Amino acid sequence: MNDASIAPVRIGLAGLGTVGSGLVAVLQQNADWIAARLGRAVTVKTVLVRDLTKPRAVTLGPEVAITTDADALVTDPDIDIVVELMGGIDAAFALIHKALCAGKHVVTANKALLAKRGPELFALAAEKRLGLYYEASCAGAVPIVETLKSSLAGNRIKSIIGILNGTANYILSSMSEKGLPFAEALQKAQELGYAEADPTLDIQGYDAAHKLIVLIRLAYGCNLPLERLPVEGITGVGPDDIRFAREFGYAIKLIGQVRDLGGRLAAGVWPMLVHEDFLLASVKGAFNAVRVEGDASGPIMLHGKGAGDLPTASAVLADILALARQGMIPNNTGFLTEPLPEAELVDPDDFVSPHYIHFTVKDQPGVMAAISKSMGEHGVSISQAVQKGVPEDGYVSIVFLTHEAPNRAITAVLTDTDAMPFIKPGTVHFRVL
Ligand SMILES: NC(=O)c1ccc[n+]([C@@H]2O[C@H](COP(=O)([O-])OP(=O)(O)OC[C@H]3O[C@@H](n4cnc5c(N)ncnc54)[C@H](OP(=O)(O)O)[C@@H]3O)[C@@H](O)[C@H]2O)c1
Repeated sequence: MNDASIAPVRIGLAGLGTVGSGLVAVLQQNADWIAARLGRAVTVKTVLVRDLTKPRAVTLGPEVAITTDADALVTDPDIDIVVELMGGIDAAFALIHKALCAGKHVVTANKALLAKRGPELFALAAEKRLGLYYEASCAGAVPIVETLKSSLAGNRIKSIIGILNGTANYILSSMSEKGLPFAEALQKAQELGYAEADPTLDIQGYDAAHKLIVLIRLAYGCNLPLERLPVEGITGVGPDDIRFAREFGYAIKLIGQVRDLGGRLAAGVWPMLVHEDFLLASVKGAFNAVRVEGDASGPIMLHGKGAGDLPTASAVLADILALARQGMIPNNTGFLTEPLPEAELVDPDDFVSPHYIHFTVKDQPGVMAAISKSMGEHGVSISQAVQKGVPEDGYVSIVFLTHEAPNRAITAVLTDTDAMPFIKPGTVHFRVL
């Protein structure tokens, strides 16, 4: 970092897409305000892109160089902070690795990279005593990283429950509000620019999983490899389930959650029924929300725009300003030991919660009794059970809400019921928050 307090902070910006352009726009729009807070200006010196001829959403000043040479950007002695807004894994990893080796602080919004290769990069940043900051990687404008790293640092975190993917939340909200089937809601999200052309990471739960891994590291000081986290997306949520859930008083949301159960973590990403009395049930559209419960603070809820050019740029700028402050000592994960240990997890089959189970069954006597018998044998007690709809092709829906039960008991019930000839394959099961 340049010592002279009046010298500008010089940014090397890797990526001029949605977030990179947003960052340039906010830097232009709020230049005086940022300089007043920092005592020095923040300027973009060089921008790295793949395609020099592509039209851009922002106009760069004549003083800004634009290049396709990543090495030149990260080794430029006149750059103080490298801001990685390219996305992807390999090229972004190489860029950040080289930037840290070249003595630069780094800011990134890349949750996929931090989930998959964060441990290596945080260890390197610690060894080099450099900042590797990532407020924009989780929940866009919502300042959850700093909240966990600093504001709640004195707490033992009991749980984090989040709606961490705006695309999935938008799809579920429009299925619920407009009665759209999944495919149509996804198409609408794509038309409005909420969902990528390839929405796999969003709808299969992996984007939320990446963010949850980042949050777990911040809250508990441990690394959780993605392969160990149970992840289920929203592709199995049907309009019927949304309707049945609503009749029971619940919304279906894609939830990333972790609970501390006496030092071992119960974590996962699933579509879950959330009771309409909970604040999380009313998070609509492309918004994100995170509920954190500290042992001293009690529950705290953060809610805001989880993506988009300016909201995400707001979080990137927070990191740039933090790193540019005088006398700054980097605090990357909020913990001093590096590398951090691996998380100790509760077996996902031991997770206890209420459950929602939707069977499609032949409309004949004895079906309800057979299912109830299996539930009784596996210790699952029923809280509500209803038969829904008029028979279609001789089949009807039977929907159960259970009291709390370990997931392994539900798996045992589903194994029994899958073998019952009067139950259609494809029974739907969701956890209840
Ligand atoms: N979009 C959001 O709302 C949002 C929210 C939170 C976090 N994020 C994260 O922010 C990051 C950027 O997302 P984005 O939506 O802004 O992406 P984007 O619109 O696809 O932009 C990516 C930019 O990076 C450049 N780029 C990609 N690979 C490159 C490479 N190998 N070498 C040089 N330049 C390269 C592209 O250059 P060209 O333009 O020349 O192709 C483009 O300018 C991702 O990690 C994403 O997960 C995004």
